[in-house]
Amino acid sequence: MKISLKITLIYSLLFSLVLLILSASILFGLRYYLIEQSINQVYNQSDAILEKIKEIKGEFNDYNENLLFDTGESQNMIARVYDSNGKIIYSSVKNDKLRLPYLNNVGKAKKIEKDEYHLVYLNQRIEISGKIFYIQLIKDMENEYDFLKALFMILLFVDGIGIFLSIGVGFVVTLKVLKPINYLIREVQSIRATDLNKRIKVNGPDDELTRLAKTFNEMLNRIQDSFERQERFISDVSHELRTPIAVIKGYIDMLDRWGKNDKSVLQEGIDAIKKQADEMKLLTERLLLIARGDKGQIKIEKSSFCLNDIVNEVVSEAKIISPEHNIKVQSEQNIIFYGDKNLIKEMLRIFIDNSIKYTKKGGRILIKLIRNESEVKMSIEDDGIGIPPEDIPHIFDRFYRVDKSRNKEQGGWGLGLSIAKMIIDMHDGIVFVESKVGEGTKFIIKFPQGVKANV
Ligand SMILES: Nc1ncnc2c1ncn2[C@@H]1O[C@H](COP(=O)(O)OP(=O)(O)OP(=O)(O)O)[C@@H](O)[C@H]1O
Ligand SMILES: [Mg+2]
Repeated sequence: MKISLKITLIYSLLFSLVLLILSASILFGLRYYLIEQSINQVYNQSDAILEKIKEIKGEFNDYNENLLFDTGESQNMIARVYDSNGKIIYSSVKNDKLRLPYLNNVGKAKKIEKDEYHLVYLNQRIEISGKIFYIQLIKDMENEYDFLKALFMILLFVDGIGIFLSIGVGFVVTLKVLKPINYLIREVQSIRATDLNKRIKVNGPDDELTRLAKTFNEMLNRIQDSFERQERFISDVSHELRTPIAVIKGYIDMLDRWGKNDKSVLQEGIDAIKKQADEMKLLTERLLLIARGDKGQIKIEKSSFCLNDIVNEVVSEAKIISPEHNIKVQSEQNIIFYGDKNLIKEMLRIFIDNSIKYTKKGGRILIKLIRNESEVKMSIEDDGIGIPPEDIPHIFDRFYRVDKSRNKEQGGWGLGLSIAKMIIDMHDGIVFVESKVGEGTKFIIKFPQGVKANV
């Protein structure tokens, strides 16, 4: 069922209910009031008659009869006087058919329904000069009930119109209120994956609907952003894979033509293909690591280990690869680190590898380890080519390389720092860069680490 119809029905139902309850209360309240009033009337009238009978000492004649009972008729009342044998001595109407027992409920007024009549009646007993009389007063509530009936018809009519209006007006109002939602639906439907640039036009007062539209636009921004990043990532990956594949293909062609007989060509081809294959292996490993990191699938196995040992291991490896650089480690104490040993090692490799790559032969690389009460601080400093300030905000982005021409011979994909950042994030750490072109670069990494027993 449409939401507009639902809202209209619920409101109309509630409104009708309130209207009906109100009308019923009016009718029943008024009926109660009118009955009470009639009861009072019969009591008053009977008191007046009692007084008169006392005055005439129970002696009825034509003269005092009229005097006694003329008042009642105007109020639609019948008065009768019975003697102790039940004989009617007097009746205020001549040929009355309305007969009620005179001995019932003596002294107490009562409301009854008889045939089509709504009656209030009262029987009173009186003793005068040793004689017993019964006075009976009957009030016909015809007028009052006619009035109630008329009122009932009017209320029914008014309620009917009210209910009809509430449905009609309710429907028009909800349609008007919900119109922007239909607009939103149409707008959202028109957005396809291929044109994520589209946004919902937000105008009108600052209400829930404009906020919904704004929220939706913000969500589109995020989707578009990640969509574009994904696209860029895929095109970067394909681009990076194209070169080694082309090289391998080239060497295979060469081997096919000349390598079968020429040993030196054969060896050269095999070496080159091996090198390219190794690089592709490294690239796919890094890509897999990134993909697993994105999906939150990297299992981080934390343990306590000696950070100095790990740093020394990575530095020894680096010295073997690049003996021309002057790499030093500075640490005042052995630091126990709580984290994933392999990931931290990988992170150190990335920073040290960069320092070697972007520092000329003979350059100095200094690694400092400092621990204080709440954190472990590492810094990797070199006196290499430095990073231009405008590139610094991007160096942690995937596939971002500063001016590809300047470091063409070093190779690399621009993935190292993005992986290092991922590892730092996984350990709740932060990283800063200080760099000056031509002077050098310093990466500072801080990990929150409470003091544990240091070796
Ligand atoms: N110590 C450094 N000195 C100068 N430039 C640096 C240094 N470290 C990083 N950079 C710059 O930041 C860029 C991004 O570094 P990152 O390690 O992510 O990529 P890469 O070294 O180019 O390639 P990869 O690490 O994937 O082999 C580098 O291309 C380089 O220009
Ligand atoms: Mg690198």
